[in-house]
Amino acid sequence: RENPLVLGIETSCDETGIGIVRGDTLLANTIASSMEEHARYGGVVPEVAARAHLEALTPTLRTAVADAGIELADIDAVAVTSGPGLSGALMVGVGAAKALAVSLGKPIYAVNHLVGHVGADLLDAHGGPGHPVELPTIALLVSGGHTSLLLVRDLVSDVELLGETIDDAAGEAFDKVARVLGLPYPGGPQIDRVAAGGDPRAIRFPRGLTKPKDLDAHRYDFSFSGLKTAVARWVEQRQDAGEPVPVADVAASFREAVVDVLLTKALAACRDYDVPRLLLGGGVVANARIREVAVERTEAAGVALRIPALSLCTDNGAMIAALAAQLIRAGHEPSTLGFSADSTLPV
Ligand code: KG4
Ligand code: ZN
Repeated sequence: RENPLVLGIETSCDETGIGIVRGDTLLANTIASSMEEHARYGGVVPEVAARAHLEALTPTLRTAVADAGIELADIDAVAVTSGPGLSGALMVGVGAAKALAVSLGKPIYAVNHLVGHVGADLLDAHGGPGHPVELPTIALLVSGGHTSLLLVRDLVSDVELLGETIDDAAGEAFDKVARVLGLPYPGGPQIDRVAAGGDPRAIRFPRGLTKPKDLDAHRYDFSFSGLKTAVARWVEQRQDAGEPVPVADVAASFREAVVDVLLTKALAACRDYDVPRLLLGGGVVANARIREVAVERTEAAGVALRIPALSLCTDNGAMIAALAAQLIRAGHEPSTLGFSADSTLPV
């Protein structure tokens, strides 16, 4: 079918997302987040996230169906994120999607969360007509749960993982450094806010996996745990010496290090593969500095930059539905009901 009505379920991390699309057109994108429940732990607690999905799923589904102005019985297919992500959280979505598909007698499509982020670019956040993702493209996906660099030649049949973080995700690094600086969770927006008043060149923090010796094996991989430790040590030394910590400068310098390494590697991939397009996705894309530097460096390199609306960059069900709609359009068979959640699902 050309314009299938697809309901997408996303529960890979702390957002319960239900999205409904008709082909490339967004009808609903409803999100419930358990972010606040994780705040006192300073990071997403898998068990807490899974329980929150269970509670939020039905009400979120109802709201999405109402927002879309459809009858649940009218959908052509159910789509669900089967991985990668937190396994208990994924299982809630997968279980719900299977139940829905079986009870409605509709096909089900298990999709990859990372490819879903790329699929988000098909949609117009305001429900206008969508458009195909321009391909090939390099995609840089940065959130609290993942930091991945993809080469996408075809959305449904040719996605290659070029690299990913070997330790913390970029958003996780923001959250941990915020904690070191005494800022509340989630730390990304806080650091971004504080950094606006600081000097990004005040402190030269390390850029992980950018030394020549690291580039052989990890050209497109990321590492943020050394950076986080360097910031913590720098702050500690100040405190031990009884000197004030210049929070704005630390935040700005840290943010600069993260943004620099993310975009250096993304643009290296554009160059190496001769792909003149870069697509950004994930919650860290909200960062003001990553947006600025992305614009500057892509312009300088002659690379076209795509940044979907933030409501489509953060985890959501609409991107999952949109990707499944492409699979259907391309004639892919639905998944058989035997699939399960796979926390390390490859692209
Ligand atoms: O995609 P997302 O909403 O979902 C999960 O990863 O679950 O991303 C959330 C992450 C958090 O780590 C948060 O600190 C980070 O994105 N983040 C930011 C900003 N806004 C959110 N990081 C840097 N700067 C921001 N403005
Ligand atoms: Zn994500």
